[in-house]
Amino acid sequence: MSARKIVVERVTKSFPSGKGSLKVIDGVSLGIADGEFVAIVGPSGCGKSTLLNIVAGFERPDEGTVEIDGAPQAGPSPKGIVISQHGSVFPWLTVQQNLMFGLNGEGHGDKAALADHYAAMVGLKGFEKSYPHELSGGMLKRVELARAFVVKPEILYMDEPFSALDALMTCA
Ligand SMILES: Nc1ncnc2c1ncn2[C@@H]1O[C@H](COP(=O)(O)OP(=O)(O)O)[C@@H](O)[C@H]1O
Ligand SMILES: [Mg+2]
Repeated sequence: MSARKIVVERVTKSFPSGKGSLKVIDGVSLGIADGEFVAIVGPSGCGKSTLLNIVAGFERPDEGTVEIDGAPQAGPSPKGIVISQHGSVFPWLTVQQNLMFGLNGEGHGDKAALADHYAAMVGLKGFEKSYPHELSGGMLKRVELARAFVVKPEILYMDEPFSALDALMTCA
């Protein structure tokens, strides 16, 4: 049994709303092992993105704790990359430049070659020099995926990452 990578303990979160406070997450606990793939499923508005943002460190819980590798979640870090529901590709950079953006540390070797390798992995070979406005919605989603893969994060947080992709592309 491998060690638990992510431990969520009795997390509670409310947001202010027109009718007072809206409790979006109420005492959620879960543990996720290293190498495990977990999907959180539920109706629209039930709190999935909120929970993901708390685990990724972008939101603070009102109560409860999140631990990553046994240490309290202190905020976003390169250890965990979020693929957001809303898209986060930079429109003024090409596909290749978007993929190279996260490779700002040492030890990545030929960054352009690495970017092109991951572009090809998601089926965007030949579009390395294209700008986001020249791509379809599904292609943009694939740039997002490649942008997360290229930095080789330990944890990938994905908020509906396949919503603009058809079944064939998702299976490919
Ligand atoms: N920053 C916020 N401020 C106020 N209400 C929010 C905020 N973020 C989410 N909510 C509310 O919390 C609820 C859950 O939202 P969300 O986590 O995005 O749901 P899901 O991802 O499951 O569709 C919704 O009612 C939403 O309106
Ligand atoms: Mg959501």
